[in-house]
Amino acid sequence: MPRTLTRRTFMAAAVAMGAFATPAFAQEVVKIGLIQPMTGPSASTGKQAEAGAKLWMQLHGDTVAGKKIQLIVKDDTGAPDVTKRIAQELVVNDKVNVLMGFGLTPLALAVAPIATQAKIPEIVTSAATAIITEQSPFIVRTSFTLPQATVPMAQWAAKNGIKKVVTLVSDYGPGIDAEKAFKEAFSANGGEVVSELRVPLRNPDFAPFLQRVKDAGPDAVFVFVPSGFGSAFMKQFAERGLTQAGIKLIATGDVTDDDLLNEMGDAALGVVNTHHYSASHNSPENKEFVEAFKKANNFRPNFMAVGAYDGMQLVYKALDKTKGNADGQALIDAMKGLSWTSPRGPVQIDPETRDIIQNIYVRKVEKVNGELYNQEFATIEMVKDPVKAAKKK
Ligand code: PHB
Repeated sequence: MPRTLTRRTFMAAAVAMGAFATPAFAQEVVKIGLIQPMTGPSASTGKQAEAGAKLWMQLHGDTVAGKKIQLIVKDDTGAPDVTKRIAQELVVNDKVNVLMGFGLTPLALAVAPIATQAKIPEIVTSAATAIITEQSPFIVRTSFTLPQATVPMAQWAAKNGIKKVVTLVSDYGPGIDAEKAFKEAFSANGGEVVSELRVPLRNPDFAPFLQRVKDAGPDAVFVFVPSGFGSAFMKQFAERGLTQAGIKLIATGDVTDDDLLNEMGDAALGVVNTHHYSASHNSPENKEFVEAFKKANNFRPNFMAVGAYDGMQLVYKALDKTKGNADGQALIDAMKGLSWTSPRGPVQIDPETRDIIQNIYVRKVEKVNGELYNQEFATIEMVKDPVKAAKKK
């Protein structure tokens, strides 16, 4: 402080500037707490999300609307009670302005009451059960919803000669969403779901379930398992000889996750699936994103990386709009209706539901330059979460 500026005149000037009237506005650092499973069976989600969030900052700087952005990364190991404790500590001790992440549905749900109470945004960059955004007016989502990704798969199957399907899903929120959405949309388009199988989320043994699929003899099996579990599934799928029995595999893109796809080997070739992001999406934004991501991390990005990259993008865009006001309500209001071009394609935050509206792509696993990719061949434009859209009718 210059010697001529006394403490009294400094305080008077600060009060005149309104610096103490709105503490959140005056705060020079905006803190974002990123909570993800960095260890345990969903560790690939944490690794991807952290890399995605950090890449956004690497490419776009750590200052926005005059505020310094600080990212605090925490490992919740995938256990909801840990997620909750970390979220509380981040709010009370670190005074974060935004909570972000949540690799699994129960982890996102555990934080909803904290976001409501603290009145700060909870940006869900990974979890995808439809009901999540309804658990707090402070939840905004940059990932997707299972019904959003599943309905186009059911419609494509019905229109492409698949008549009888068995569904096989992980037995928790997103799996049950996928099962229901598939059955409704497939039946509405003339198909028949002959059996619905649910596999435990933890330490799944797919073999007995795949045997039941084989015995039912459908045209196809529709599968959802969360990101990180796809290669274990694919291994057992190949071992059981379902393809040889004439049973096609169709899925959401969670199964043919870009992070694990190369590990799956040729068993994954030809699998048709639907999702919102592929590392091979053909756009200038994605080419730039993938190139920078690979350079920084030595592995390719999947949809969890893009969810977190866009989560950061959403915070930056909201802060731009509020001119640096990091008050929770101001940020949430600013986020509603925002739109941008993501590496996945055009997106918008639905101002009514705070879910993300985005393209869903129909893809087929193919080998490109010796590597496996989900190659997009059809686009369903700007899909809203169908569960919430149906409620409005
Ligand atoms: C979820 O638990 O909501 C979840 C996790 C991973 C996915 C999809 C959904 O790939």
